[in-house]
Amino acid sequence: MTIATPTPASENPAPTLREARVPEGGMFEGRRVLRRVPEDWTERPYEHITVVPQGRVIGAEIRDVDLTGPLAPAVFEELNRAFLEWKVLFFRGADLTPEQQAAFAKQWGPLETNPLLARGSSDEVARFDKGSSAVPTFENVWHVDVTFRERPAMGAVLQLREVPPVGGDTMWADMAAAYDNLPDEVKARIDGATAVHDFIPGFRRFYGDEKLIPLQDEFPPVEHPVVRTHPETGRKLLFVNTSFTTHIVGMDREESDRLLAYLVRQAHTPEFQVRFSWRQGDIAFWDNRATQHYAVDDYFPHRRLAERVAIAGDRPF
Ligand SMILES: [Fe+2]
Repeated sequence: MTIATPTPASENPAPTLREARVPEGGMFEGRRVLRRVPEDWTERPYEHITVVPQGRVIGAEIRDVDLTGPLAPAVFEELNRAFLEWKVLFFRGADLTPEQQAAFAKQWGPLETNPLLARGSSDEVARFDKGSSAVPTFENVWHVDVTFRERPAMGAVLQLREVPPVGGDTMWADMAAAYDNLPDEVKARIDGATAVHDFIPGFRRFYGDEKLIPLQDEFPPVEHPVVRTHPETGRKLLFVNTSFTTHIVGMDREESDRLLAYLVRQAHTPEFQVRFSWRQGDIAFWDNRATQHYAVDDYFPHRRLAERVAIAGDRPF
């Protein structure tokens, strides 16, 4: 008969957690910094419009305003303030003609034209018709419009003229929130950095060389700061995007690709986003300096027809 002798404690160590590899950049959870307005911003009540928030930091529906004619100065002041605070404004059932839509946008500044997009009823109106046989562009990637320009659009006004039975939403992300939540070491790495933007990566998937070559002199590659400052609110904004940012200046390809992949992924964070389900005649008016957007492409083969006008912007700094 064998009597088991107790194992000495030194031979039976406390269990330890096994090693498990965490992929680089693979963990991104925890409390977010969710600041909707600059820290020195004084919030005031709205007296001429009704502002109905649709998200924590971004997106508000505006009610009780008539967009069909010139805005009274007091109404314009409040709409502009809401635009800066909420970054994208929604107007249900506005149902503007293309001329009214352009006139509404022009109250914020001159409009720009875009030779890469299908034209609507005038040069100022770009048409996105996903039911036509024309070459469709897709916008189902997080992006900022026209950052390949030296002066990218400051904002855009989009109206849905025909909506699919289900789907076709658009999402926006607040790039001030994206910047606020970067780790300090990443902020230090991109502080003062610039990146090159080019229209070719975003459009070569849709158009052949014969369409792109004549435009490349008009749109040479441009450099923008990786972190731009909002010219009106003073907020710092992460300003690189999947469609047009090709590389960060002064980094080798591998380092630039890895850092860009990390930075553009910040727009994917749900706490920074708002999602809008369109009805015919609805309008969205977004600050193209402060946001990225993504047009969800989940309605094929149904038609989705949208028209957009874009307000010229200034040089990012
Ligand atoms: Fe876009």
